Amino acid sequence: MTGSADPRIEKAAQLLAHAQRIVCLTGAGVSAESGVATFRNAETGLWSQFAPQQLASQEGFSADPGLVWRWYMHRLDMVERAWPNAGHDALAALERLAASFTLVTQNVDDLHERAGSRRILHLHGRISRFHCNRCHFEHDLLPSERRASEPPACHNCGGLIRPSVVWFGENLPRRVLDHAWREAERCDLLLVVGTSGVVYPAAHLPLVAKQSGARIVDVNPEPSEISALADVFLQGPSGELLPQVTQHVRILQGGAQKQPPPE
Ligand code: OAD
Repeated sequence: MTGSADPRIEKAAQLLAHAQRIVCLTGAGVSAESGVATFRNAETGLWSQFAPQQLASQEGFSADPGLVWRWYMHRLDMVERAWPNAGHDALAALERLAASFTLVTQNVDDLHERAGSRRILHLHGRISRFHCNRCHFEHDLLPSERRASEPPACHNCGGLIRPSVVWFGENLPRRVLDHAWREAERCDLLLVVGTSGVVYPAAHLPLVAKQSGARIVDVNPEPSEISALADVFLQGPSGELLPQVTQHVRILQGGAQKQPPPE
């Protein structure tokens, strides 16, 4: 991808500058440049020999609660050591420039919040929150529990404490999913950043938006089924591309009259 002269950057910025209702769907790729490992690019090191389903499912947790607990504490350490990257910052800036902007994320980290994004829907939960796997009581983790190699016991029922993230085979939080679905149906532009688009129902959202008449912009170093749907596919890292797009939107909105939307 070349610099700002790239016509695809220009076209993406034009679409965003003229959109009335923008929804942005993010995946693990938006946090990759912050040093947070993605899922399907296989984590390196200690955990690469396990299938995520072994580590992010009721079956995996029942089979070896300690292993699952240590994997999440490892990921939580990674998230807490990370900082939002220029892609997160650009999305927060875009929210401030847009008439209406809703960020729907599959990520369980808090990097969008720390970058200043405000309207955020977490489809897959939050890694920094915990609840009892039996009675669903919320649990505030103690530092000693954070360092433990086994999950703590619930103060209410003695069940095992788990992270409040969606595991394979579990339903997404109904209210959050319904809200994201409605926003996708009503938006006139869906910006997709850093997702392989293989996990449903999140991966349905681009189709829902497209069928409702929205334009699609996809940002990813790799082509996917979503890039095939997109009106504009920006191939490259979001930390590099999103700041360029946002800068162009700023120029389009600040100076020149609103151009007629591109054909
Ligand atoms: P994946 O690991 O499946 O895909 C990450 C995507 O990010 C890939 O398409 C990469 O090409 C892309 N990518 C890598 N580096 C990037 C960069 N610098 N900028 C932009 N994109 C980049 O992660 P997700 O699509 O988020 O579910 O996975 C969806 C869900 O599957 C996750 O939320 C998780 C997992 O099981 C739950 O936790 C419930």
